Amino acid sequence: MREQDLTETERKIPDHVAVIMDGNGRWAKKHGLPRTEGHRVGAGRVREIVEKCLELGVKYFTIYAFSKENWKRPGKEVSGIMKLSEVFFNREFNRLKSKGVYFVHLGDTENLPPFIIKIIKNMERNNAVERKLYLNIAFNYSGRSELTNAVKQLCTLVRQDEIKVSDITEDKIESFLFTHGMPDPDLLIRTGGEMRVSNFLLWQIAYTEIWVTDVLWPDFSAEVFLGAISDYRRRERRFGGV
Ligand code: FPP
Repeated sequence: MREQDLTETERKIPDHVAVIMDGNGRWAKKHGLPRTEGHRVGAGRVREIVEKCLELGVKYFTIYAFSKENWKRPGKEVSGIMKLSEVFFNREFNRLKSKGVYFVHLGDTENLPPFIIKIIKNMERNNAVERKLYLNIAFNYSGRSELTNAVKQLCTLVRQDEIKVSDITEDKIESFLFTHGMPDPDLLIRTGGEMRVSNFLLWQIAYTEIWVTDVLWPDFSAEVFLGAISDYRRRERRFGGV
């Protein structure tokens, strides 16, 4: 049965939830703390929400941890995020792996510091066998860059006569995205109150339900997450139909 044919009660937990974790800087300012402290508390929330996803049976959880545009931030903040990410990966990878969390990096390794590239490669090599939950971490990610890259790869295949222009379908394009083979997000949560998508998963969110909260990411508790899920369950998804 297609998802659009399910009734409201049959539609249960979203398979794929994506999150734009915004508001760490404002949270830190509100508490008179350096911005990096907001990111540190925010990283702790990732752990809590991943646990909730496992409990609920969400299959894919995608977080926007660092965009290509974030390089424009002050050097001290960027290096703070890199350091925090290193701590997060070192502390959480094995623990989450043992619970069936399969790690996926969305983004380019180019320009990332060598210690982060090393951690990403190591996690990819030693990934979980059981895949209860895919944890997609968008890190050095940009939706436009992902699409540009897909176009380049398709053009190369056409030029090499491996495919014809008429072979370029939506599925073909999808196969060149970092999320290839995964379902599109059912629900996109943005914390921090801004009403924009910030170059996140541009192709994948075509029919995604969007849920925005004023809650700042470091305050985003499991309870707030459950509120987003229950709102989602009341939404009527029509996928362009009636
Ligand atoms: C947006 O808040 C947040 C980020 C750009 C960084 C998010 C990074 C983490 C939570 C670190 C954890 C990393 C991993 C790998 C789990 P903002 O600084 O734009 O907030 P503002 O809009 O209030 O300034």
